[in-house]
Amino acid sequence: MQARGCAEINQAFELLAAKDIDLQQETYRRFFHLCPEAQELMGHSDEPMRGRMLEQTYELLMDAKLQGPQSYFRWEIRNHLSAYGVSTPMYGAFFQALEAAIVQALGEAWTQQMAKAWQRRVEDLMQEVMGT
Ligand code: HEM
Repeated sequence: MQARGCAEINQAFELLAAKDIDLQQETYRRFFHLCPEAQELMGHSDEPMRGRMLEQTYELLMDAKLQGPQSYFRWEIRNHLSAYGVSTPMYGAFFQALEAAIVQALGEAWTQQMAKAWQRRVEDLMQEVMGT
């Protein structure tokens, strides 16, 4: 289990919370633009459901303990692939959409260190997605 990048990502989410920024609309707008197939899968989902999914994603990005065998994330991926018809590349698009929404929201407060940390964290999570 790797915790690369978690500290800087925590910092970014703290800044977003302090500014009271809600990323939900922008993230899903970008996600569905990048990946129209995902919109088909999620077309019937309501805003609270989308909010819960995003919240879980924040937790996962900030806390490496949710990764690894027998972990929440492993279970979630299997469930998504088998029950919802999600495919692994969709995770890449989802993380990409979320990052773009954060970059836009934070502006100059989004640092090089955060960008690097994000890249590493997503790399580790995607390795887990691909290996499931
Ligand atoms: C880190 C990535 C992700 C996490 C942590 C996550 C988490 C979740 C959670 C917790 C739920 C259930 C929410 C609830 O009803 O309480 C959910 C539902 C769902 N997720 Fe994700 N998700 C992720 C990525 C994705 C991706 C990439 C897709 C691609 C389309 C996807 C598609 C769905 C669908 C179709 C549902 C069910 C929607 C419904 O019941 O209407 N998820 N996700």
